[in-house]
Amino acid sequence: MLSHSSTLLRTQLLLATLALLAGVCLGRSDAPRGVSLPFVFDVKAVCDPPCKHAGICIRNNTCFCSQGYEGETCQYANCYPKCKNGGECLRPGKCRCPPGFGGRYCHKVMCDGGCWNGGDCIAVNGEAKCICPSSWTGSRCQEAICPQGCRNGGSCVAPGICSCPEGWLGGACHTAVCKKPCLNGGKCVSPDTCRCRAPFSGPQCEERKKLF
Ligand SMILES: *[C@@H]1O[C@H](CO)[C@@H](O)[C@H](O)[C@H]1NC(C)=O
Repeated sequence: MLSHSSTLLRTQLLLATLALLAGVCLGRSDAPRGVSLPFVFDVKAVCDPPCKHAGICIRNNTCFCSQGYEGETCQYANCYPKCKNGGECLRPGKCRCPPGFGGRYCHKVMCDGGCWNGGDCIAVNGEAKCICPSSWTGSRCQEAICPQGCRNGGSCVAPGICSCPEGWLGGACHTAVCKKPCLNGGKCVSPDTCRCRAPFSGPQCEERKKLF
């Protein structure tokens, strides 16, 4: 196998020669098909398996590949610049990118669906990930963080803001609401439920128990 730079040099020399000879051949009707260059070409050369992607068989089992292809039978496309982030070269200049990457050379990180709420899409160990600002979380930074927690079935709807179910109030939905107030020092402990102080009772702690 030839090194890349010498392959390239030979490629250029050979292409120049081919162009020259093609011109000569076209001008002479009795010229044989193809070109023969004793020191490079063997017109009887056999390449088995055959050269792919329009490669030319120049010596027995030696293919001269057309631009953009390489390998013993010119079976591999090469992409310059190379496909990044594990992308596969499909044909010259065309990369197939793994999930999470895009762009001509798979050089762009793509977070499917984007990153919300100011998150940044970056590559972490070859995977596209959203890096979220401090008060957001989730794969797309779609979930707000309520450091105080949302209790009693409340849900965090924005950083530090709980949406509370009916009957609860407060920053963490921790305060029960009693539509009718609890009387006589009673305490509202859950929606419309008073805990009464002795000797009171009743829904609003309005009754005084009779002592016998
Ligand atoms: C190429 O291979 C053919 C048979 O496949 C053989 O007859 C010929 O001599 C070979 N040419 C060279 C230069 O080795």
